Amino acid sequence: MNTSDAVIVRFTQVGDVPAICSILNHHIAESVASFRTEPYGVEEWSKQLAAHSDRYPYLVAEVGGAVAGFAYAGPWNPKQAYAWTTESTVYLSPDHQGRGIGSLLYEELFKRLEQQGFRSVMAQISQPNPGSEALHARFGFKLLGSIRDAGHKLGSWHGVGIWQKEFGLLADPPVPPTPVER
Ligand SMILES: CC(C)(COP(=O)(O)OP(=O)(O)OC[C@H]1O[C@@H](n2cnc3c(N)ncnc32)[C@H](O)[C@@H]1OP(=O)(O)O)[C@@H](O)C(=O)NCCC(=O)NCCS
Repeated sequence: MNTSDAVIVRFTQVGDVPAICSILNHHIAESVASFRTEPYGVEEWSKQLAAHSDRYPYLVAEVGGAVAGFAYAGPWNPKQAYAWTTESTVYLSPDHQGRGIGSLLYEELFKRLEQQGFRSVMAQISQPNPGSEALHARFGFKLLGSIRDAGHKLGSWHGVGIWQKEFGLLADPPVPPTPVER
């Protein structure tokens, strides 16, 4: 997978989940990047990994043997006709932001999603989040519109931008996306 200046991007293993929860729970507590207000437990996140990681890539970026961040895709909507539309998620530990690691994770994630035969990737970016907006714009996401005052967190209302990145057109009718290749 992607390697740059001692950053290794690889598939998530069960042993990574405590570090992933610690990164995620930091952002849940300190920011509006996630609209969740309750921390994730290792068991809950492990169940999500087990349920989805055969169909969607779950990646981590490792620096010096420790998990510095993660990215994955998941279903945008469970209704069957949405099978070709995914939603992406990316979080880094605060010590590793702004050094290109989010871009390394997204390069690998989108290469794989396109190869699997997905048609587009959605992202919901709560406002304000200039770092996330810049990362998504860099990868070709377009802002479709925003839900105003979508959530109330840390003492104020926040909107959410709905972003979409499209891959090439698929055969018509399309074949179902293939499972993750390890
Ligand atoms: C958002 C996040 C994943 C971006 O990853 P990153 O490794 O910091 O981003 P990169 O260093 O790869 O930078 C990608 C682009 O965004 C820009 N960027 C990064 N942080 C920025 C910031 N705070 N403000 C403005 N632009 C920023 C970079 O300059 C770069 O732009 P370029 O392609 O024009 O050079 C990371 O900052 C993060 O984990 N943030 C907290 C959690 C979060 O918000 N997750 C997303 C939820 S939707």
